Amino acid sequence: MLEVKNVDFVVNDENNETEKAVIKNMTISFPENKITVITGQNGSGKSTLIKLIMGLYKPTKGKIFYNGNDITNLNITQRANLGITTAFQQPIRFKGLTVKNLLDIASEKSNKISDACEYLSKVGLCAKNYINREVDSTLSGGELKRIELALSLAKGGDVFLFDEPEAGIDLWSFDSLIDIFKSLKDKTVIIVSHQDKILKQADYILLLDEDDYKMGEREEIYKTLKTEPVCKRLGG
Ligand SMILES: Nc1ncnc2c1ncn2[C@@H]1O[C@H](COP(=O)(O)OP(=O)(O)O)[C@@H](O)[C@H]1O
Ligand SMILES: [Mg+2]
Repeated sequence: MLEVKNVDFVVNDENNETEKAVIKNMTISFPENKITVITGQNGSGKSTLIKLIMGLYKPTKGKIFYNGNDITNLNITQRANLGITTAFQQPIRFKGLTVKNLLDIASEKSNKISDACEYLSKVGLCAKNYINREVDSTLSGGELKRIELALSLAKGGDVFLFDEPEAGIDLWSFDSLIDIFKSLKDKTVIIVSHQDKILKQADYILLLDEDDYKMGEREEIYKTLKTEPVCKRLGG
């Protein structure tokens, strides 16, 4: 079980004059074997929360627990080793390495070609066209994004963090994205998304607003997304 307890994340604003709490006194338990979709306006702190969980940011206050252990001071690699797996919002390019190389690195073994191809097929890429391709600037944003999803599947883990996985992915391949999330049903899956199709896959929705948050079962939160203006959603 992944838990965020009384977490603040405070930053300095652009002029470095005033402090702003991007995350304020947040306490959340992310249910196992469930999909939680984090949604909310731009700038409400969704990516920040993902970065706090993955270990890229450290809370200003509060703690993060994984299976009862305090992981607040663990770095991104240490958390990855515990099974917390991330696909970034902005894909990373690795010069000189092929897709197969990266899949092998992610899964810490030399994959059989058939296994490597399966990861690529799952993310909607025609494996034979990509397996030996160098991951460089000739790949489009959408291709990179999918390769990154394939890498997170190859890595495996118990907690999967996806920050706007649909970004740059064409609508026709949306269904394969949904299939990926469905295939992770026995994991803790946390997805940042605005997309209706992804929200519909959620067991729970965590709605972030500028200075508040609300988590609940999908039906409960989803209807407030549809019916209330933003400032009313959280009772403000
Ligand atoms: N390291 C940082 N330093 C300063 N401001 C930050 C930092 N990280 C996030 N912010 C600010 O926090 C707010 C929330 O950002 P973010 O989590 O990326 O929002 P979202 O993903 O919900 O669109 C934004 O106003 C952003 O500028
Ligand atoms: Mg974001």
